[in-house]
Amino acid sequence: MPTESDSTLSPHSLKKMAAEKSLEYIQDGHTVGLGTGSTVKYLLEALAPCVKAGLRIQGVPTSRETATLAIQLHIPILPDEDAWEIDVAIDGADEVDSHFNLIKGGGGALLREKIIAANAKQFVVIVDEGKQVTSLGVSFPLPVEVVPFGWPSTMRAIERLGYQATRRVRDGHAIVTDNHNYVFDVQGKALENPSMLAQQFKDIPGVVETGLFVGMTSILIVGTPQGAVIHRHPSTV
Ligand code: 5RP
Repeated sequence: MPTESDSTLSPHSLKKMAAEKSLEYIQDGHTVGLGTGSTVKYLLEALAPCVKAGLRIQGVPTSRETATLAIQLHIPILPDEDAWEIDVAIDGADEVDSHFNLIKGGGGALLREKIIAANAKQFVVIVDEGKQVTSLGVSFPLPVEVVPFGWPSTMRAIERLGYQATRRVRDGHAIVTDNHNYVFDVQGKALENPSMLAQQFKDIPGVVETGLFVGMTSILIVGTPQGAVIHRHPSTV
């Protein structure tokens, strides 16, 4: 339990706290969507001893990175092309607003993350308190997954909507997602009306998916210096 002196807890301690709290949503026999990122790494590290102690779950990883870690930790996972019945998906986020809408995709796994969240009976989001924002997209650019074919034209089409798009690179090379696509980081205007905007982006040929997760979160768990706080979306109460 955090104490008063814990006001200096690092974002990573707060992520770990939120991740560990989310174990409450995993039950014996569950099929569990496993997100991607540093917060989810804490979840897998907390889940592994439970599995070792006899908890029977099957994971559905949202990325190769998560699949690799789950295998290392002896957490059973289902094949990518299985007909999963996901009881609960647990994932991090880059930003969350007061309506529980999210920006995701900082780790480039947004497409698989969205497929798994959309197919889960319950979507639990785990974040440190620094991820809570008033308006999405003011400080964190929106990740958008696009097919490589004709990507400069896709970029121009996004820019015609009034945004700036940058193709994500690492070490001088374009990042390629698990689905063999590129990621654009899009910014320049607040993302007002996220639902309409997500559809506008998706109407552009070449755009595969956006990191806007609108109306998907059922439970939000926020790591704070006072402890992990659970918020239930009004539709789930
Ligand atoms: C990956 C994601 C992550 O959930 C998001 O980037 C948060 O990452 P972290 O838990 O490392 O802060 O969307 O595509």
